[in-house]
Amino acid sequence: MSEKLGPKREHWGSQIGFLLAAVGSAIGLGNIWRFSYMAYANGGGAFLLPYAVALFTAGIPLLLLEFALGHERVGSAPTACAKVSRHWEWLGWWAVIFVMFGIELYYTVIIAWCVDFFVLSFNLGWGPDPNAFFFKKFLGLSGAPGHIGGIQTAIFAALILVWLANWYIVYMGVGKGIERANKVFMPLLFILTAILVFWSLTLRGAGVGIMAYLTPDFSKLTSPKVWIDAYSQIFFTLSLGFGIMIVYASYLPRKAEITKNAYLTAFINCGYSVFAGFAVFSVLGFMAVTQGRPLSKVVSQSIGLAFVAYPKAVSLMPGGNFFGAIFFLCLVMAGLSSSVSILEAFVSAMVDKFGYPRKKVVSICSVLGFVGSIIFTTQGGLYWLDIVDHFLTHYGLVSVGVLEAILVGWLLGTHVLRDHINRVSSTPVGPWWDLLIKYFVPLVLGVILVGDVYHEVTRPYGGYSWAAVLGIGANWIILTMLLALVFASRPWRVDYRKVQVAEEWEKEEIT
Ligand code: ALA
Repeated sequence: MSEKLGPKREHWGSQIGFLLAAVGSAIGLGNIWRFSYMAYANGGGAFLLPYAVALFTAGIPLLLLEFALGHERVGSAPTACAKVSRHWEWLGWWAVIFVMFGIELYYTVIIAWCVDFFVLSFNLGWGPDPNAFFFKKFLGLSGAPGHIGGIQTAIFAALILVWLANWYIVYMGVGKGIERANKVFMPLLFILTAILVFWSLTLRGAGVGIMAYLTPDFSKLTSPKVWIDAYSQIFFTLSLGFGIMIVYASYLPRKAEITKNAYLTAFINCGYSVFAGFAVFSVLGFMAVTQGRPLSKVVSQSIGLAFVAYPKAVSLMPGGNFFGAIFFLCLVMAGLSSSVSILEAFVSAMVDKFGYPRKKVVSICSVLGFVGSIIFTTQGGLYWLDIVDHFLTHYGLVSVGVLEAILVGWLLGTHVLRDHINRVSSTPVGPWWDLLIKYFVPLVLGVILVGDVYHEVTRPYGGYSWAAVLGIGANWIILTMLLALVFASRPWRVDYRKVQVAEEWEKEEIT
């Protein structure tokens, strides 16, 4: 076997750099509008209860698990899993493969839409009917997933920019690229979001929207769907099951604050969602009052909220073009800081196992990613996006979460990671964590998975044909799984037991 010591491992320049990168990965497209829509659809203020329960019972425990696994085993997701058991290496590969060659492909296309809408904001380029503009002109939506039609040029052009940005940031490296970018993106995002929130609170009718956002409808809490939505939202929003948090923690020095960073990442991310929700709902209230319609009529499905309802509101409000530009710029920054983390998780896995030069891997993956994204820029792209997103977030991410909990809870032993966390962090984690990882997380997420599969087989998702649902969604799961098995079965070109932190980093403690 031609195993050798891998290339020198990348690392963060500071703990705050790591925290900002983890927060950057967590805060993404999902926080600004997906969260608000979920809250609205699931009982307004009452949704905050299942959301908080999901955060404390699965979100934080799994975030601690992913940080600790990456830090203790030192490696990307496949390396960390292989260092627990060679039979589980495939799990790490599956996560980084379906996220990079699934979620990332359409995620970058949504960022591309935001880039286009940022430009359109300046002259309200969507015209008097944003709904018709978005679906007919901008997406050129065909009749069915099978009718792919042509590529939409504006989306394609913006997609090139998005991939160039992804490529450049990851190409520059962990410290000089990802860390630096997040040090700019995150503070700017917080400032711009604060401007949006305060601006929107001054709009006529804002109170109506805020009331709808915060008035709890407790009757909804008895529906299992509300709880399933809360758990899946927490998963997506904290980037759990993506393999990202594992590799990000592996770039920390040996003495690092695992616990505090996990709590801070979770609270900043979820706090941001709740805060941004005020802007979204104030604007919806403004729309409802301006148009003399009930709020429920101005809220459309989640995608429509950002690209139809918002442009409509922007056209109606004084100085709206700037409001629109700031809103879409926020989405672009939030999106990019998440998409680079996805690219990094895959690149790092390839470098760890095969010892390929990092920069070359980044370039090849960016080209492959860009080419793979093109299908989502076509006239059938929205359908593909919807189906792939449904399957990968519902089955991919949640399955990885369950399997990670089983791997650590039942194979490695939770005490190994908890002892590690408590050795390196100043805030200790108690035995409650072991119970949640061993029993609660696999059980609850397992029930959610079974419930989802049951719904899936009773009727095709989203009213599509069975051929489309199985051909696109189920195949995406199966093909990425097969690819993961192939990658896991290849011999290691680097001795995985020696994938380690950079030598000079080993002893250092950063603040
Ligand atoms: N965590 C990222 C988001 O919420 C992926 O969009």
